[in-house]
Amino acid sequence: MKILTCGAYIPNKVLTNLDLEKIVDTSDKWIKERTGIEERRIEEEKSTASMALEALENALSKVDNPKNILENTLGIIVATSTPDYLFPSTACLVQGKLIEKYNLKNPPQVCFDILAACSGFIYAIYNAYNLLKHSEKKYFIVIGSEKYSKIINWKDRTTCILFGDAAGCTILEKGDQDNFLSFDIGSDGRYKNLLYVPCVDDQDKYLKMKGNEVFKIAIRSLSSSILKVLKKANKKPEDISYVIPHQANIRILKLVAERTKIPLEKFFINIERLGNTSAASIPVAMNEAIEKNLIKRDDLILLTAFGGGFTWGSILLKF
Ligand code: ACO
Repeated sequence: MKILTCGAYIPNKVLTNLDLEKIVDTSDKWIKERTGIEERRIEEEKSTASMALEALENALSKVDNPKNILENTLGIIVATSTPDYLFPSTACLVQGKLIEKYNLKNPPQVCFDILAACSGFIYAIYNAYNLLKHSEKKYFIVIGSEKYSKIINWKDRTTCILFGDAAGCTILEKGDQDNFLSFDIGSDGRYKNLLYVPCVDDQDKYLKMKGNEVFKIAIRSLSSSILKVLKKANKKPEDISYVIPHQANIRILKLVAERTKIPLEKFFINIERLGNTSAASIPVAMNEAIEKNLIKRDDLILLTAFGGGFTWGSILLKF
């Protein structure tokens, strides 16, 4: 099994730190120093499903005969915490559009969303990998699509500076060789009060986070998860070509680099331009690293994320 191709959708509208200075009591200097973020993108028109479809179309534009791939695809998983509906799932909405556009006779059948906040994409790949392994089909579509701008309280300076909208996609292909070397997936449900989005009637619907407490746990969880996947695959930090991390905070990544002894230069970072795009951040970053020719076939790459739940996970694979 390997990653056949990647794609992304990045909204056009840029929201800079200077724009945020006009909305809440913050400063460009504070945001840059504390998070590494300079600007983020906001989607004004498209839904989460439409962004997911755009990212998938971008991935399909890089392969020969996309219709043949779609007819041979087992399913679609969309990792998202910001779906358009509770149901139908974002994945079903994407599948519906694909059937119409490509006139599919054998469309992807196993279509569902995964909700694991910022770790959603890692969870989605883990599930897709295991489902595809036991199937006669050859491909699986995994998308991370997020529109956090709709669950952000734009009056809360402790959270509104962090997040942005985007979507990223990968297509897994089953073959003779398995390029996925090891997985580490975890969760700890005891910390709900540190990071959550209510969806009960009597509460507001915005994201709430005790950032500095989440910060410490994120560093510990990411570092230990990275070391676990390396150990499971009998690999060393120096074997890795690139770490594609979830982009939550540049200071988190610096401390994780120190703890794992993987040089920070090996971490692909685009947080300065996109902020935290939750489940979309890893596929978006991976797509960018591939387009910039930083990752080549057979390079060892490590995907890692931490998020609400708490959830976390890492995947070590040969690209
Ligand atoms: N502008 C100016 N000042 C601010 C802002 C702001 N936007 N936000 C907070 N402050 C102030 C606080 O009020 C506080 O002031 P005080 O000292 O007078 O009380 C001071 O800055 C420090 O606040 P902290 O919260 O301690 O700041 P910290 O350095 O921890 O940075 C941040 C906050 C960026 C949120 C950081 O804690 C973080 O990145 N946390 C982890 C986030 C994360 O990884 N989440 C998981 C993924 S997200 C998901 O799953 C949905």
